Amino acid sequence: MKKVMLVFGTRPEAIKMCPLALEIKKSGTLKPVVCVTGQHREMLQQVLDIFHVEPEYNLEVMKPGQDLNDITSAVLLGMREIIKKEKPDAVLVHGDTTTAYASAVAAFYQQIPVGHVEAGLRTWNLYSPFPEEFNRQSISLLAQWHFAPTEVAKEHLLREGKSPETIYVTGNTGIDAMRYTVSPHFTHPILSWAEGSRMLLITAHRRENLGSPMHAMFRGIRRIVEAFEDVKAVYPVHLNPLVQQAAREELSGCDRIRLIEPLDAVSFHNLMARSYLILTDSGGIQEEAPSLKKPVLVMRDTTERPEGVEAGTLCLVGTDEQVIYEKCHELLCDQKVYQSMCDAVNPYGDGKASIRIRKAIENALKE
Ligand code: UD1
Ligand code: UDP
Repeated sequence: MKKVMLVFGTRPEAIKMCPLALEIKKSGTLKPVVCVTGQHREMLQQVLDIFHVEPEYNLEVMKPGQDLNDITSAVLLGMREIIKKEKPDAVLVHGDTTTAYASAVAAFYQQIPVGHVEAGLRTWNLYSPFPEEFNRQSISLLAQWHFAPTEVAKEHLLREGKSPETIYVTGNTGIDAMRYTVSPHFTHPILSWAEGSRMLLITAHRRENLGSPMHAMFRGIRRIVEAFEDVKAVYPVHLNPLVQQAAREELSGCDRIRLIEPLDAVSFHNLMARSYLILTDSGGIQEEAPSLKKPVLVMRDTTERPEGVEAGTLCLVGTDEQVIYEKCHELLCDQKVYQSMCDAVNPYGDGKASIRIRKAIENALKE
């Protein structure tokens, strides 16, 4: 059996890597070793519990208010020891987090082949999203196998000179995860609270939005909720203390806005499925919402998910209070515009990305 180490550390990586870990477990020729860095703590554990994945290793690197140097150095040093001990035949990392970047570098330093899941996303702006664009470009430089979710992502990699036989277009494993989570029978107290209203679902956490952009975003949202009596908003607030503080300052004290703890993926995906509109600066939600036919206002200046914008489900609104207010207003008042965003086709895959990745690795590691 060939040993394949899957490394992840944050909530979104876990949501997109757990289906792959479960799929590799089914292989007759590959043995998965799951290693979490613990870049996130509670938000990571929620996902591991949902998928019943028990990591062989946990570096537990998270500390409150950690900066990029803290995470990079802790992961780099921690992964050195684990890779030395386990001697995997391949290391798989996901996307663009600092966990993914530092783990890929650690594997590269010991000349272990790296497979990059969700490869080829680009904004071409190293500061937006920050530091994710740097992380994913760096991983592409050293990875041996690039698992691109879409043809657009493949194009980016070809443009950077990657050879075609190292690129596999697989779909996004996030869509695989939704096969485990979305159910018509789901109930939740927040849904009872929101019953009879149009529910806005909000998330925000990006480093480049911390501070005044985030405050402006939240003010735009508050004004919208206050302007429409039939609108309620639910915001499971990210555990970053800076995000928590901004949310409290701008959004508390309004009885049609609920600030709640981060939701587990089952609850979050099912709330998405029942929401009217999603406002977010998240990456993963931009992929999930089109498969649920839910419009998304992306509160960022750039996106590495142009497929969703092209398909019509995503609309890039930036972080300006007035722009967010006006776009929300339009979607709440103009049924035609709203419906056209709902009707778009999901460009991110058929829920079988993990199977394609498993098969590609089986082939690549065949003697
Ligand atoms: C990280 C990733 C980002 C990804 C996001 C997903 C990097 C640089 N950033 O950003 O790409 O989009 O995760 O959410 O890799 N915290 C807790 N408990 C948790 C999680 C976070 O308390 O379970 C708090 C801690 O105070 C921590 C802070 O949140 O220091 C920030 O976490 P961090 O992983 O550094 O940044 P994110 O914004 O979560
Ligand atoms: N998510 C979740 N609970 C929440 C908010 C989001 O499970 O309360 C899920 C969401 O469905 C998506 C992922 O977390 O799969 C996105 O994570 P995040 O926005 O933290 O990171 P990003 O995708 O921006 O890297």
